[in-house]
Amino acid sequence: MQNIASYDFAGKKAIVRVDFNVPIVDGKITDDTRIRGAVPTLKLILEKGGALIIMSHMGKPKGKKKPELSLGQIVDAVSAALGAPVKFAPDCADAAEAAAALQPGEVLLLENLRYYPEEEGKPVGIDKEDPAYDEAKKAMKASQKEFAKKLASYADCYVMDAFGTAHRKHASTAVIADYFTAENKMLGLLMEKEVNAVDAVLNNIQRPFVAVMGGSKVSSKIGIIENLLGKVDKIILCGGMTYTFSKAHGGEIGCSIVEMDKLDVALGVEELAKKNGVELVLAPDAVCTNALDFGSMTVKEGGEIKVAPVNAIPEGFEGVDAGPEAQAKFAAALKGAKTILWNGPAGVFECDSFTAGSRAIGEAIAEATAEGAFSLIGGGDSVACVNKFGLADKVSYISTGGGALLEAIEGKVLPGIAAIKGE
Ligand code: 3PG
Repeated sequence: MQNIASYDFAGKKAIVRVDFNVPIVDGKITDDTRIRGAVPTLKLILEKGGALIIMSHMGKPKGKKKPELSLGQIVDAVSAALGAPVKFAPDCADAAEAAAALQPGEVLLLENLRYYPEEEGKPVGIDKEDPAYDEAKKAMKASQKEFAKKLASYADCYVMDAFGTAHRKHASTAVIADYFTAENKMLGLLMEKEVNAVDAVLNNIQRPFVAVMGGSKVSSKIGIIENLLGKVDKIILCGGMTYTFSKAHGGEIGCSIVEMDKLDVALGVEELAKKNGVELVLAPDAVCTNALDFGSMTVKEGGEIKVAPVNAIPEGFEGVDAGPEAQAKFAAALKGAKTILWNGPAGVFECDSFTAGSRAIGEAIAEATAEGAFSLIGGGDSVACVNKFGLADKVSYISTGGGALLEAIEGKVLPGIAAIKGE
């Protein structure tokens, strides 16, 4: 497999797939972890005398040109991160001229790849049940190849460094690799780092191994939870999924988020943990409110905040954070851990009144890391938590991947990696 460190970029144009799908609020990037993550690869190529064509998606425009998802918004941030001017191609499928004009050391950022449905390769505007769907899918796969071929035509070599999107078999993450010879396609430095971090929690586990899984739905995490139950010594399940577990045991959960059709899934997780001898750590209490405004992420005036057992949340109140007992229980479970994986917050940390649960987890992880644990933090929200709490340099590794990280830890082969390896 070709290697970015030994490849001769001098005088060549490199098209680099990065994941610049960064959160933007009011035109401002609120977390630039992913941009910073790609910098070593991008700088290395420039230092070696190459020219850069950077491509990424942002959000899910589903084949439509949505200005709020334009990568034009991040040109200045990318330029500042690279310490070099960045040109912008407002149409990723019409950038041949701009790419051809690039001189060594110059940088061109392409507009959001997902403005074109070909990037994802899924037929649009047609239902899966429609008898014409299969034909539409075939036609879309053919146009996806054309789209990938066009992107490939801009450059001499292809570098895949979008770990966050490596679980997608898209035009720019996988299909494009078919248009480069093995000598001219390679993984970037971020991919290498991410793969090594995954390896530490997948194949090189120091025990005790404690996983913290948060987030609102047990359904979206069930695959990884079941998988982890075969690996970890303890698993802390927190965040919104707490209330599905509570409900499954007949708890009163007020108007907390719950997946009524997943109560059996929650009980199944408990069974599996027991069978595998894994300690399942759930919150005994919750911070609740009757007045969270999710738009402004504030508690409305006159609203109440109280602590209640997770099985006795008052009518009209919803659990929005781990309670004080839960925080202490989580911290105790993390004490002495030697391998830690954290994905998903313990509460609505975006609201300043409900950060305590996630902060307690972050601090306990930082403490265990100081005592020698390897800690891997992944998923946009947990990464935002460690950044918000100033703990970023107190954990071992912050992944740029959300879904990609979870799939990698499940042991799945990521299409973005397989395409480079020729698998
Ligand atoms: C992410 O945010 O996890 C990546 O950018 C992938 O985005 P996607 O889930 O929309 O493919």
